[in-house]
Amino acid sequence: MTDPNPSPRAFSASAPLKGKIAILGDKSISHRALMLSALAVGTSRVTGLLEGHDVLATAAAMRAMGASIERTGDGEWVIDGVGVGGLLQPREALEMGNSGTSTRLLMGLVASHPITVTFTGDASLSSRPMGRVIDPLSQMGADISASPGGRLPLMVRGLAPAIPLAYRLPMASAQVKSAVLLAGLNTPGITEVIEPIPTRDHSERMLKGFGADLNVETDGDGTRRIHIRGEAELRPQTIAVPGDPSSAAFFIVAALIVPGSDVVIANVGLNPTRAGLVEVLQAMGGDIELLDPREVGGEPVADLHVRHSALKGIEVDPAIAPSMIDEYPILFVAAALAEGRTVTTGLDELRVKESDRLAVMAAGLTAIGAQVEESADGLAIDGTGGDPLPGGATIAGHLDHRICMSFAVAGLVGKAPVTIDDMGPVATSFPNFEALLESLQA
Ligand code: S3P
Repeated sequence: MTDPNPSPRAFSASAPLKGKIAILGDKSISHRALMLSALAVGTSRVTGLLEGHDVLATAAAMRAMGASIERTGDGEWVIDGVGVGGLLQPREALEMGNSGTSTRLLMGLVASHPITVTFTGDASLSSRPMGRVIDPLSQMGADISASPGGRLPLMVRGLAPAIPLAYRLPMASAQVKSAVLLAGLNTPGITEVIEPIPTRDHSERMLKGFGADLNVETDGDGTRRIHIRGEAELRPQTIAVPGDPSSAAFFIVAALIVPGSDVVIANVGLNPTRAGLVEVLQAMGGDIELLDPREVGGEPVADLHVRHSALKGIEVDPAIAPSMIDEYPILFVAAALAEGRTVTTGLDELRVKESDRLAVMAAGLTAIGAQVEESADGLAIDGTGGDPLPGGATIAGHLDHRICMSFAVAGLVGKAPVTIDDMGPVATSFPNFEALLESLQA
């Protein structure tokens, strides 16, 4: 499904970006806050929830399975949970839109409840691999029938009681880890996830915060062993969701590459499993200062002061990839403006995101005049050394919010405008992206 009413928009060379903005709530944390609140016994309250389409798909799904979820006039979300084991059979298929996180985590929840749920999604989501969650959840006893290639639409028939599993992740994926942990919540005994390469740990932090019996051991080689005791009772919580570093990323790079910019980005989550981009941009010479480091909702947060900088190309260590997996598209834009060559590797996971982000970024950057070589698992980019990019092309966003926003930022340093064929997908994760950009240009 492509949008019958696309919203094309051209982005052109920008005046310096100046001022202070605050970033909306973290998408990953927002999904988890809704899911766990909906499984607690009693009333939870969430502030700062990201009200993007992906998170709203999770809210609708949890409502369809019995939770009461209301938004108050002042933007607080009040959730009355059904208790672990209490999810109800939804009357209709759950429509997941564009959201892989909703789909994979909810498949985990359903897998250990005695309900049968059909999941559907848009064209992008329906092309993404679900085998990575079907495998472990089937081992736990769920009966899953998927479309060819392990794709959506698919149906999960849960098993209760499910069978506890010790599962070693075959790829670095927080969604797969979380699906198994969430299935383990309603499974008797101990479910274990073995994670050789650490990924974002919001599920672990929040499950503990809700009172689940979860512990993490780290082996000598860095492998994490996460254990959760099932048939848990979750206690309702009050949660403040910190700002999303993956959204802040677009303004960090915009401020670094638009000459004369000086911007403060407030309320940016800096969980070490998410903060890789800041480290890489600083290594490239980016002037990014952390102000007022503090804790929000059990997560480290700071305000970021970012000034226009002369960036230098570097070789990016593939080991940092899991902590900035969603930030490569915008890093590639920064690299296109840096002096010298930036080389990235170890990024095969980018090929199965909302789009094939290696192919789509390589094609789009080439179309606007950047020097890009695509390899099987990364891009090598020779930057302009700060000179504007030629621009002057229309970019297909492929229903991928981060592609749309990355090329919008590239347009700010284009000699000729860069047009995005449809900015609609941006509302999945960053509904006020254009408004914040305009406020910094005013
Ligand atoms: C997410 C995990 C990552 C990330 C996605 C959100 C999460 O996906 O790309 O945007 O909230 O767990 P993978 O688990 O596929 O790496």
